[in-house]
Amino acid sequence: MSNIKVAPSLLSADPLNLEAEVASVKDAGADLLHLDIMDGCFVPNLTYGPHVAESLYGLGLPLDIHLMVKDPDRIVPLFLPWAAYLTVHVEAAAHLHRVLQNIRDHGVKAGVALNPATPPECLSYVMDLVDLVVVMAVNPGWGGQKCLTGMARKVQAVRDMVQATGRMVEIQVDGGVTPETAGLFVKAGATILVSGSYLFKAPDRRTAIIALRESTS
Ligand code: DX5
Ligand code: ZN
Repeated sequence: MSNIKVAPSLLSADPLNLEAEVASVKDAGADLLHLDIMDGCFVPNLTYGPHVAESLYGLGLPLDIHLMVKDPDRIVPLFLPWAAYLTVHVEAAAHLHRVLQNIRDHGVKAGVALNPATPPECLSYVMDLVDLVVVMAVNPGWGGQKCLTGMARKVQAVRDMVQATGRMVEIQVDGGVTPETAGLFVKAGATILVSGSYLFKAPDRRTAIIALRESTS
């Protein structure tokens, strides 16, 4: 049995039925709920505020909160009470080291996300502060975009960096993940797969999650 974790992205869920949508992916075997926070500034789109995270918190799936916001130092405190993982973008953080330290000081797992153009070397001086590295396989802002499968090479580089630390650090791939693309990323070292459009459109979400977990390249 594969120990790959699956994190459905709520962005592709029916916005009029969020509670039922979360229950559905929870029953289907999801490990985490991926919540995309967009500010209309770092990315052009807008999504949810902390009151939505607070409401989702009680539904029984740990929240994996992906902040696509400018100056995350300002926004992080709003989401700390509800997050199991709280991720900031390296491109958006003026003080990456400090913001990661702040997240961990609150007992929340700290994540760093890398846009497709961002090289993995930017993590060198914060590796001891991260619990999660998110390799974006699309440019952030929308669900349903085409997967940049070349990001598997970055996943591999991140895996080498993680192994060098000797610590347990999750490696997540976000964007365009389907059973066709997942195997490539898992082989390269991914341990968490985010899935939005594929999973929420699937006729049977349990089968879809199993297909992601068991996909091989
Ligand atoms: C994109 C978001 C993703 C998105 C993934 O900016 O960070 O989490 O919802 O959706 P799919 O799986 O449809 O690419
Ligand atoms: Zn995301």
